[in-house]
Amino acid sequence: MRRKLIVGNWKMHGDIHSNQVLLNKLIEGLHDLNDADYVVCVPNPYLSQARDLLHKTNIAWGGQNVNQHEQGAFTGAVAPHMLTDFGCSYVLLGHSERRSIFHETNLTASARFEAAINAGLTPIFCVGETLAEHDAGLTEVIVASQMDAVMATLDENEFALAIKLNMVFAYEPVWAIGSGKTASPEHAQIVHHFMRNRIAKRNQDAAKKVRILYGGSLKAKNAEDLFSMPDVDGGLVGGASLLADEFIAICRIANKYEQT
Ligand code: PGA
Repeated sequence: MRRKLIVGNWKMHGDIHSNQVLLNKLIEGLHDLNDADYVVCVPNPYLSQARDLLHKTNIAWGGQNVNQHEQGAFTGAVAPHMLTDFGCSYVLLGHSERRSIFHETNLTASARFEAAINAGLTPIFCVGETLAEHDAGLTEVIVASQMDAVMATLDENEFALAIKLNMVFAYEPVWAIGSGKTASPEHAQIVHHFMRNRIAKRNQDAAKKVRILYGGSLKAKNAEDLFSMPDVDGGLVGGASLLADEFIAICRIANKYEQT
């Protein structure tokens, strides 16, 4: 079994004071959980706060998006090296809110993936279908197109680099995000297995190693059932990542699974 990974996606929440309270609780609550990996993806202005509080802890931090360009006239955008300057090791990419609200496409999300790995960041690439697509039976078609966009963008060297950086994928059905409607463990398993097969088409060994997270109304009460699925390697947690006790409880469940 792959080592579990829990990623908190704070989205556009927090302020200096509440972040400090939350991070200190996480440091305290997670410090002795050494059998899984933990990450918080914070809003960019708070990256230095995350770095100051989290360095020398077992919690890593990351950005919620990154631009594909190294520098230039891109008002409001953040380059990959700006995240690494603040000690980020991870970055979320292709989140459905970025796709639907900010009009990001498979093409731009894949270009960002490429830029992220070239800067040494571990990408957490999000895929998932909308409710209409789900109801129309198009889940695998959509997920395949999102995965294949990345696979087609990376050349052999880049693919090797992505493996070396332990690239992560996240299945986040759009209908489950923030809705309180979690995908069933069986549904998640089918899609995660499908995603792993998609990676296997490119490289079988990589497919065995890549962690695929589930995201969408993940809570402590449903984490166990999801994490016990063979292809669910942890979670991408939105709302519940802002509640210290809830997030710690999810991490505690992930920590119970031994790596084999
Ligand atoms: P949620 O969000 O846990 O609040 O559903 C997950 C996400 O958007 O990453």
